[in-house]
Parts: sequence; C-alpha cells; structure tokens
Amino acid sequence: MRIRYKKWARPELEASPFYVDNPEEQRGKWKELFKSPSLPLNLELGCGKGYFIANIASENQNENYIAIDLIDAMLGLAKRNVEEIYKEKNKEIDNIILTRFDIERINLILSKEDKIERIYINFCNPWPRGKHHKKRLTHTKQLEKYKEFLVKGRRNIF
Ligand SMILES: C[S@@+](CC[C@H](N)C(=O)[O-])C[C@H]1O[C@@H](n2cnc3c(N)ncnc32)[C@H](O)[C@@H]1O
Repeated sequence: MRIRYKKWARPELEASPFYVDNPEEQRGKWKELFKSPSLPLNLELGCGKGYFIANIASENQNENYIAIDLIDAMLGLAKRNVEEIYKEKNKEIDNIILTRFDIERINLILSKEDKIERIYINFCNPWPRGKHHKKRLTHTKQLEKYKEFLVKGRRNIF
C-alpha cells in the first residue's frame, strides 16, 4: 500500500501517550507500559491505518494490544483513527500502543518474556517477485521468529 509523506505524522506520534518511539528498550517489559499489565497481550503486524486494531482494542478492554508498522504516515493515521474510534465509543485509550519498527527484525523488540498471546496479520504486502518472498510477514522465516515470543500451545496467528 503506497501512502504520501505526512509532515504532521512524526511530531504527532512523538507527542502521543500511546506511541512508543524506543521499542528496542521495551524488549521483555512491554506489559509494564499498560494501565493493566496483567491482561493478555496481543500484536498486530503491519497495522497500516489502524482501523482493525482501533476497533478490536476498543471493543476488548480486557486485553492489551501492540500495533507495529514501518511507515510514519501510516502510524500517524493509525494514531488519529485510534483517537476517533475510542472517542466515538466514549472509551479511554489505555490498552493500545503503536510503535514503528521493521518486522523483519522483530526479535530485537520482543522476547519470550513478553508472552504474546495472539498475532494478527491483515493483508500483508504480497511481495510477488520470487527474490522478495522472504519479506512477506507470513514467510516461514518470519513465522519462526514469531515463535520466540508467542505463548506456546495455542492457535495464535490470525
Ligand atoms: C497492505 S498494508 C495492510 C495494512 C493493514 N493491515 C490493513 O489491513 O489495511 C501492509 C502494511 O504492512 C506494513 N509493513 C510491511 N512490511 C513491514 C515490515 N517489514 N515492518 C513493518 N511494517 C511492515 C506496511 O507499511 C503496510 O502498512
């Protein structure tokens, strides 16, 4: 999905209480960033404009959510969509965190101590050319990386 550069995105993200700019420093202790750290922690990879995560998280405030993307413009729109959707439902934004990172290097920001219950990947980039297949968020090489921080013994990739 292509998106135009948005000048406002970076300053808005940096000022947001639910955006984390230093994800590598949170490795192993993500739960502590949430109002209720003991809740199950879920992950969306490649959240794009954030409609999915904003809806599922605002409907399930008994769970916590981290949403990751690589592009500031996407995350800026996701931040605005989270604010709008929580406001419509009159809910406090206390169970969602957005962060920017390259998911190909995800093990630098998540470890088994983070105990991720569930991963959502919606419409990941197809990378149709053979030599780029490994970049797909659902490539076997990627799935192996996710195993390191997923809670074992559940059906947990959606
Ligand atoms: C096709 S879009 C889908 C967005 C959203 N999940 C949806 O359903 O509308 C794929 C998203 O994954 C993100 N993405 C792709 N590869 C990524 C990577 N290696 N690290 C972080 N984000 C990535 C892109 O920036 C883009 O926002």
